[in-house]
Amino acid sequence: MKILVTGAGGYIGSTLVPLLLENKHEVLALDRFHFGRDKLPKNGKLYCLEADIRSVKRNQLESYGKIDAIIDLAALSNDPLGELEPSLTYSINHLGRVRMAMLCKSLGVDRYILPSSCSIYGFQEGEVTEESAVNPLTVYAKANYRCEQDVLAMADEDFCVTVIRQATVYGLSRRMRFDLAINGMTKSFYQNGKISIMRDGNQWRPFVHVKDTSKAMLLLLGAKPSKINRELFNIGSNDQNFQIYNLAERVAIGVGLDFNVEWYGDPDHRSYKVDFSKLKRITNFTADWNVEYAAKEIWDGIENNFVDPNDIQTITLKWYEKLIKDGITI
Ligand SMILES: NC(=O)c1ccc[n+]([C@@H]2O[C@H](COP(=O)([O-])OP(=O)(O)OC[C@H]3O[C@@H](n4cnc5c(N)ncnc54)[C@H](O)[C@@H]3O)[C@@H](O)[C@H]2O)c1
Repeated sequence: MKILVTGAGGYIGSTLVPLLLENKHEVLALDRFHFGRDKLPKNGKLYCLEADIRSVKRNQLESYGKIDAIIDLAALSNDPLGELEPSLTYSINHLGRVRMAMLCKSLGVDRYILPSSCSIYGFQEGEVTEESAVNPLTVYAKANYRCEQDVLAMADEDFCVTVIRQATVYGLSRRMRFDLAINGMTKSFYQNGKISIMRDGNQWRPFVHVKDTSKAMLLLLGAKPSKINRELFNIGSNDQNFQIYNLAERVAIGVGLDFNVEWYGDPDHRSYKVDFSKLKRITNFTADWNVEYAAKEIWDGIENNFVDPNDIQTITLKWYEKLIKDGITI
């Protein structure tokens, strides 16, 4: 297949794209490349297009020939960033991606995958499934939910639309993010000998490794449209719903050291457990990676200079604030 991946130079994209290439797909990577172009590999089957999803022209996409599928990752992907300037997040995460879906549909692209987030469930008692009511609490979550509604309405027999609600992602990536829970815990443990935990530590959250969420996307690309068209899928696995304090213990086990806790923040009300059975039932997905593995790979990644824990790019909000201060139009 020829697959258009927007936001390809980001945290998930820079893991997903090599996986697609390994599986013999051609990839058109469309991105503003706010984190640079160096996160993607050199490969004869990879074409890079520096463009904005809000303004990319039809003929720019047509020049790459028939596109079979799109995975629309481009977004301002961070809760605090969403609150910084809500209209910007809505213009990209909601309207920009709806625009991409419309453009792709009119170009005869067969499949559209929207990477949304489990955070749209917000605070709920018990376990949520794809059928549960949603409770998006932040601008970021609201923009995702609006986009879900609009792109699902575009689905028809010739345009297969699938929405994926990813758990909070973790693990080492070339565009590293230390503003994600497990990654941030590992960094603080490495640098301070303590693990920072957001109060009160009892909140439940679902997690998925960045290689596993990429694998889930690959599996969905190979699934029959009749099984995935107009469908929502939670992306993760039932055994990776964790309470935050328990996560810290797993991080410490992964790196093989005792830990001390450093508490921060006000009590976090975003607490939810998610059921991932549907993904497993339809695609036979199982998670290959776990928290302990990720903590070790991140620890080693810092030690071997694969990632710099002090690189401002690894904290999404700080990086965008710098870009704006430097006069870059986001
Ligand atoms: N990381 C997570 O835990 C997580 C969880 C659930 C959902 N998601 C979703 O997955 C997607 C990717 O997240 P990520 O963590 O890789 O984020 P990221 O910030 O690392 O990557 C986003 C990419 O989009 C690009 N981009 C931003 N605005 C653009 C625009 N207007 N036009 C073209 N490109 C643009 C950026 O340059 C960046 O490379 C997002 O849609 C996010 O909402 C992420």
